This record gives sequence, structure tokens and C-alpha cells, in this order.
Amino acid sequence: MTKLTIRRPDDWHLHLRDGAMLQGILPETARHFARAIIMPNLVPPVVTGEQAAAYRDRILAALPEGAVFEPLMTLYLTEDTDPADVAAAAESGLVKAVKLYPAGATTNSHSGVRDFDNVRPVLEKMAEIGLPLCLHGEVTDSDVDIFDREAVFIDRVLDPIRRATPGLRVVMEHITTSDAVAYARSAGDDLGATITTHHLVINRNHILVGGIKPHYYCLPVAKRETHRLALREAATSGEARFFLGTDSAPHIDALKEHACGCAGCFTATNTMSILAEVFEQEGVLDRLEGFASLHGPAFYRLPVNEGTLTLTKGEPVSYPEKILTGAGPVTVFDPGFPLHWHVSN
Ligand code: DOR
Ligand code: ZN
Repeated sequence: MTKLTIRRPDDWHLHLRDGAMLQGILPETARHFARAIIMPNLVPPVVTGEQAAAYRDRILAALPEGAVFEPLMTLYLTEDTDPADVAAAAESGLVKAVKLYPAGATTNSHSGVRDFDNVRPVLEKMAEIGLPLCLHGEVTDSDVDIFDREAVFIDRVLDPIRRATPGLRVVMEHITTSDAVAYARSAGDDLGATITTHHLVINRNHILVGGIKPHYYCLPVAKRETHRLALREAATSGEARFFLGTDSAPHIDALKEHACGCAGCFTATNTMSILAEVFEQEGVLDRLEGFASLHGPAFYRLPVNEGTLTLTKGEPVSYPEKILTGAGPVTVFDPGFPLHWHVSN
């Protein structure tokens, strides 16, 4: 196959930031994607429906002329979140999910949840109205090794929450382990799992061998090769529970190439070319549309996009090494292999 036309894809986990960074990086996503679930971990976080509406307006205002892109807003769950505010924001159609960060798990997560019992009323309301909970699935206990934090979260937090809240619809976000793949497969259709582009490409050696590579550092951190292979198998399996959430997370180079470098891989620019290469390598290019364009809308109970995207195989495509934003340069994820699939609208 040298040409593939798919329904226009969506990104079910995306960081757009705000201000000059938003302005600089939004075109990278809007070029190929019709919609994205927008992460609320701004400073301060997007906690209320009113804040989400204002952020949505800032995103729409930052869109380039002629771009058609719909931001799907989320609320950042805190121990003070009001279930009635969440319900109102969902009923108005503004908010499509609530995001749970365990406090301290990642970038701008200090307002997240410390005691999961304190968010029970919100989770119960969400189960009642069918609003999905997006989960950053890592424990933060200092005695748990960083490479084990996702697997431990499944046992200690995710499974108890799901048992205690029947009907709660959950997205395990950016899964990085075979444990998470297995857990997702053990559940019914009230559980989905997103997989990033970069976790299909890199394992922990890419970060650490031959010198530390800060642009490959993200959270959850890439694990050993067996886990990457499990993720590739899941993403390319055709199973509807697995769908694309890039977790494209821009930080300026000065903050990535730093003594305490920020977590995040910026993949918005070349994600579709990389995914085409990955699905082709696995011999299932015909399943790319399901992963990128069909399974996510089915989980979120939204229509699939009307538009299309065409991928054409040819000489290697070159993408910019960096996106120059008003906030500073942002390095584009380097998959480490040539990309032959050109993307056009
Ligand atoms: O690598 C990451 N970057 N993981 C996250 O969970 C947050 C994100 C960010 O906001 O930079
Ligand atoms: Zn994220």
C-alpha cells in the first residue's frame, strides 16, 4: 500500500499550554487533527466550568486563519471540586472529561488528589451522568520505584476506584506497561486506554544509553523493551479499547535541557507520519484508522469526523527539528528512523 485515506484523526490527550506557547504550537495539532482532549494542567489549573470556557475561547482565538479544530475541554479534579459544577459543565456540552492527577505525579499536579476518598462525590456524579474520568495512572509514594509506579497504581488505586464506583467510565491515559494492557483487556467497555506515539517508539534505553536524552524523558517514563512491544501489539491489535492520545507536551528547550529537566515529548508535528510507519512495520496499516480516528469517538460517544487525511508513501519526509514559539524553541520528537509517509489534507 502506498496511499491511505482515513477519517480525520483526533488526539485524545493533548497539552496545548497557554499564551505564546499555545499560539506557537496549536497549528502543529490543528494541521492534522480535527479534535483533541485538552489537558487542564495550566498554572493555575483549569478547575471550574467557567475556567474551561475561558480557556476554550483562548484556544479558538489562537487558531490560524481557516483552521478547523475543536478543543474538547476537561476539568482538573481537586479535592475541592464541586460535583454540581462538573455536572453543569458536562450537561452544557463544554466539558468532555475530568482529569485526575495524583498530587505530585507530574507537571503541575500539586493541586491534584491526595486522598481519593475526598473525590468520591464527584466520581459518583460522573458515574451517574456517564462523564469519563481521565487518569494519570502512577502512584507517587517515594518508596515505589518510578518504573513500577503504573503497575502499583492499577492495584492500589484504579481497581479499588472502579470497584467502588460501578458505572464510572475511565480512560487509562498514556499506558506504558504490559500490566496496563492486560488490565485494560480484563475490563468491559467502560474502560478505555490511550497510547502515545512516543511510547510505541522508545524504551528506557533511548533515554539513558550513550548519554542522557532529555527530549525522550516524559511521564510515565518509557519502560523496558518488553513493555514497548506490548504497547505496539495493543495499539495495532484493532481492539476498540485502545486509541491514540499523543500526550504531546511542549516545554521550551531551556527547560528540557536543564539540571532538572521537565517531562514531556512534543510529537504533534510528526505523529501521523510516525504512526503510519509503526503500523506499516507491524503489517496492519489498515488498522491505523481505527486507532487514530474511530475508537476514540466510540469511547467518548461522539460522532467520527467527516473530513479525511491522506497518507502517501514516498521519499523520507523532513519535519522541522524545532518549532520556534514566542515562548522559546520546542524540540520535535525524533523517532530515530526515517519517515516515509507524507500527510495531506
Ligand atoms: O510527560 C509528561 N508531560 N507527562 C505528563 O503527565 C504531563 C506532561 C506535561 O504537562 O508536560
Ligand atoms: Zn499528559
